[in-house]
Amino acid sequence: AQNPVRVLVTGAAGQIGYALVPMIARGVLLGPNQPVILHMLDIPPAAESLNGVKMELVDAAFPLLKGVVATTDVAEACTGVNIAIMVGGFPRKEGMERKDVMSKNVSIYKAQASALEKHAAANCKVLVVANPANTNALILKEFAPSIPEKNISCLTRLDHNRALGQISERLNVHVSEIKNVIIWGNHSSTQYPDVNHATVKLPSGEEKSVRELVADDAWLNGEFISTVQQRGAAIIKARKFSSALSAASAACDHIRDWVLGTPEGTWVSMGVYSDGSYNVPAGLIYSFPVTCQNGEWSIVQGLSLDEFSRKKLDLTAEELTEEKALAYSCLS
Ligand code: NAI
Repeated sequence: AQNPVRVLVTGAAGQIGYALVPMIARGVLLGPNQPVILHMLDIPPAAESLNGVKMELVDAAFPLLKGVVATTDVAEACTGVNIAIMVGGFPRKEGMERKDVMSKNVSIYKAQASALEKHAAANCKVLVVANPANTNALILKEFAPSIPEKNISCLTRLDHNRALGQISERLNVHVSEIKNVIIWGNHSSTQYPDVNHATVKLPSGEEKSVRELVADDAWLNGEFISTVQQRGAAIIKARKFSSALSAASAACDHIRDWVLGTPEGTWVSMGVYSDGSYNVPAGLIYSFPVTCQNGEWSIVQGLSLDEFSRKKLDLTAEELTEEKALAYSCLS
């Protein structure tokens, strides 16, 4: 039998945590043959609730789950972890300034960066889910200098999956037949969902471009983009809580593809440290199309960008540059 992989989930007593930990324990994250040990972190006010989640994990009698650590101690939570899924954070509350929320999260991610750096297993892979996801990941990267930047990412896979979902409904084809949409930039309403390189596999086996099949540029350049950008708000309106099962599922997709690889000819979207590809400023955590192999992602190169796309890539980069400046101003 394989050695268990230790997976940290922070904010594990929250909504996404509650949806995510059973997926991990069932093998959705790393496959049906990989045993796992779950490390769950939350803050003291949520300790009792966290313990309740642990009780339910015991009661679920998952064959792959070889142990559970439930704690409010960051060092204990991070010790020996191979994968860290950072869902815990400070939510924006009514009447709070953006700067106040940023400031709270910057201090959380700074502290947790140090704990991961000190206590996590070598080569630990980190996925930041908590908002502002890109900038939290950037702070984590800055304050964990010994963790390779290649190991730090943020979640835009939910947006990617939402884009697939919209195209699937529009064309009445199954999502699994659609590939190579792209989410560029920030996990925020400035993100750019791009279908210019996306294709659909027809029943005949032939691949056709999404743009050709939809044959409605006004919809693709307008409503499609805004629906994906605003989907999080639409879920809150409908459910009164923010997306949780879809976020948890996307987090599993993100890690699974990163660790096990993307299929030949298929890319996914991940928020990763920009090296300046596509003239995106280096030093931002920005969502790019990536392929993964042997546990490493690489940005897909050489895709053409029309003027419409260029503007959208720049706009979301500008927002991230501002967020970065705001985060830094919170540090000083
Ligand atoms: P939630 O409020 O239900 O859960 C958050 C949990 O984090 C709570 O249990 C809280 O006690 C805990 N927490 C707070 N500070 C912590 C700290 N310093 N260390 C450890 N845990 C801490 O929120 P929910 O719905 O689970 O969402 C979590 C985060 O994910 C939010 O920031 C949300 O905006 C973000 N999100 C991101 C998405 C993405 O696609 N990137 C999609 C959906 C949500």
